[in-house]
Amino acid sequence: MRILVLGGDGYLGWPTAMHFSQRGDEVCIVDNFAKRQWEMEEGIEPLWSVSTLHRRVKTWENVSGKKIEVKIGDLCNHRFVYAVFEAFKPDAIVHYGEQPSAPYSMQSREAAVYTQHNNVVGNLNVMFAMQKFVPNAHLIKLGTMGEYGTPNIDIEEGWLEIEHKGRKDRVLYPKKPGSYYHLSKVHDSANLEFACRIWGMKATDLNQGVVYGVDTDQTVLHDDLRTSFHYDDIFGTVLNRFLSQAAVGRNLTVYGNGTQTRGFLNIKDTIACVALAADNSPEQGEFRIFNQFTEQFSVLDLATKVQASALRAGLDCKVDYLANPRVEQENHYYNAVHTGLVELGLQPTLLTDDVVDAMLANVCAQKDAVDTDVFIPRVKWKQS
Ligand SMILES: NC(=O)c1ccc[n+]([C@@H]2O[C@H](COP(=O)([O-])OP(=O)(O)OC[C@H]3O[C@@H](n4cnc5c(N)ncnc54)[C@H](O)[C@@H]3O)[C@@H](O)[C@H]2O)c1
Repeated sequence: MRILVLGGDGYLGWPTAMHFSQRGDEVCIVDNFAKRQWEMEEGIEPLWSVSTLHRRVKTWENVSGKKIEVKIGDLCNHRFVYAVFEAFKPDAIVHYGEQPSAPYSMQSREAAVYTQHNNVVGNLNVMFAMQKFVPNAHLIKLGTMGEYGTPNIDIEEGWLEIEHKGRKDRVLYPKKPGSYYHLSKVHDSANLEFACRIWGMKATDLNQGVVYGVDTDQTVLHDDLRTSFHYDDIFGTVLNRFLSQAAVGRNLTVYGNGTQTRGFLNIKDTIACVALAADNSPEQGEFRIFNQFTEQFSVLDLATKVQASALRAGLDCKVDYLANPRVEQENHYYNAVHTGLVELGLQPTLLTDDVVDAMLANVCAQKDAVDTDVFIPRVKWKQS
């Protein structure tokens, strides 16, 4: 297949590009290095430095004998997007190229507007480029489980069958997102459903849980091929933050009472899910939605796992309960269906003690680089 990986310089995009390249697909990466710019603006760095995209691609060619094409530009520039689609003519597009952080989007009016403009307009440009140049191609779009929020009923896989005043219909599951970032993804989903229904586009929306891990079959082949690890308050995820805190002997910072529950998955499973989606295309005109996660954990579950791992490594760490900077339900029902990808053949990689221990060892090896100033959340959902 000819696979376009949008956001291919990012945490998930780079390992995905190598995966498809390794198995013999023609891969082209698109990125405008916005993530590297946001990191500079916020004064944060991934735990280990990430090679330039040009170096990564060169090293990949040396290691694998395979070429990955690179196009540098902004998805919000439709002329650039059209030129890429016209030249590359992808069979499938994996769209990771968005601003991915809830705290980033909640910093200010500017950040909220930027996030929604970047994400919604970029996605619209991709949809229009597909319609113009490759109307039979398959868009695999990354959304998030955070779009659903924490409703007091089971979360279905994208669609809800409803009966109202004696009549039945199938509607997009009503969403209660928790940030302007999550809202941008809800808007993307609505635009995609429309394009599938009206134009006959085919798309898979992957409502992904929080991803952990950095090792894939390809990232471990060379230091230049590693992907990023963020543990800061803006781009860092909770498990990465706890691991970094444990490594440097700081207390684990739990927001609120820690009973907030979410879906999680290993980066290996992100790549497996995207590949399964690519290899099992929906019908033309179908808007297919999967909930892409493998396990549900509360924040406290994760803290307990990291504490146990730290103990096994001879480290001691305690939990600090911080006032929750987010506005979110802490005690809530959470039961999300996630069977679609398993039915396609996903074999989950679970968050076992061995996996946590390996992640902690990885972080401990870099502990001198940990910046403890970025542990404390700077962004509040509501000024009070
Ligand atoms: N990492 C997770 O845990 C997670 C969970 C759920 C969903 N997602 C979604 O998966 C996707 C990838 O996430 P990630 O963690 O790899 O993020 P990331 O920030 O590391 O990667 C996104 C990449 O897209 C690029 N990009 C952003 N806007 C662009 C634009 N206008 N034009 C060109 N390139 C642009 C960035 O430079 C970056 O390299 C995002 O859409 C994110 O919302 C991620």
